[in-house]
Amino acid sequence: MVTASAPGKVYLFGEHAVVYGEPAVPCAIELRAQVTATRRDSGLRVHAGDLTIDGFTVEYEAEASDRPDIDVEDQLVEAGIGYVNEAIEQARDAADAPEAGFDVTVDSQIPLGAGLGSSAAVAVAAIKAATRELGVDLPPEEIAGRAYQVEHTVQDGQASRADTFCSAMGGAVRVEGDDCRTIEAPDLPFVIGYDGGAGNTGALVAGVRELREEYDFAADTVEAIGDIVRRGEAALADERVAEIGRLMNFNHGLLSALGVSSRSLDAMVWAARDAGAVGAKLTGAGGGGCIVALDETPETTSALKYTPGCEDAFRAALDPVGVCVED
Ligand code: MEV
Repeated sequence: MVTASAPGKVYLFGEHAVVYGEPAVPCAIELRAQVTATRRDSGLRVHAGDLTIDGFTVEYEAEASDRPDIDVEDQLVEAGIGYVNEAIEQARDAADAPEAGFDVTVDSQIPLGAGLGSSAAVAVAAIKAATRELGVDLPPEEIAGRAYQVEHTVQDGQASRADTFCSAMGGAVRVEGDDCRTIEAPDLPFVIGYDGGAGNTGALVAGVRELREEYDFAADTVEAIGDIVRRGEAALADERVAEIGRLMNFNHGLLSALGVSSRSLDAMVWAARDAGAVGAKLTGAGGGGCIVALDETPETTSALKYTPGCEDAFRAALDPVGVCVED
């Protein structure tokens, strides 16, 4: 039996645009997905608990092809099972053990589909746990590459390498196409607001793709996000937090223009800004889920807790630790 864990992430800058080759800067945060893999004779059995952060526990034990009897949207459950299935396939392939059977237990602190990289963290941790259980030790870069294949398959080709690379490596990273690297970043005062909802990443990415094909403004907007990311990288390197916040605000506006924000995400972004956050934006695919704001004081967290549509608000520190085996 091997247990591995991997962090979730927030996008400081660049989600969606990264799918079209622009750079993005995600940062790993101290919310982790934990996956335990134990050899069994054949097949795959999945047990999952705590798939949201607001308390209710999802418990199921089923053959991976069955739909478990739990109160979570179908699309999320199917996607969750899809990520574990594909991750185990990658582990079998890496260990040259195509018939290996597993019991897999997933325990995640990261809400599903909420823009905090839950699927990437589960895929990364599952590959690590299952390959180690098969006696193979893969470097994090290879785990990132294999987890990217998992997302690519489950999301019908609508994925960049950003989420999976960030989760495998930890810390702040920069991804531009296939060029993935870790970068230095100050310990930013992240505050997360969560509306209790989720977005369908594949559908949201497809929506932006269609908009970009139909309207020049959308193609220009994607490029403008790339410009913001490049300026953001410079601001990060010089630790100019006020400028980082300003660029996050611009980035949110451009994501709204691409149609991936929502009423609750906008309400949380404005509540954070009104409370004095230096910047605030949605994080991840959008449609619902989480915003990320920067505020050293407790003001933003308090204001978010009283914002209609916000279900939870909390601080999250940058997590320098990528995928790892737990003792
Ligand atoms: C989703 O967390 C981030 C997107 O940019 C998609 C991706 O990069 O795979 C929307």
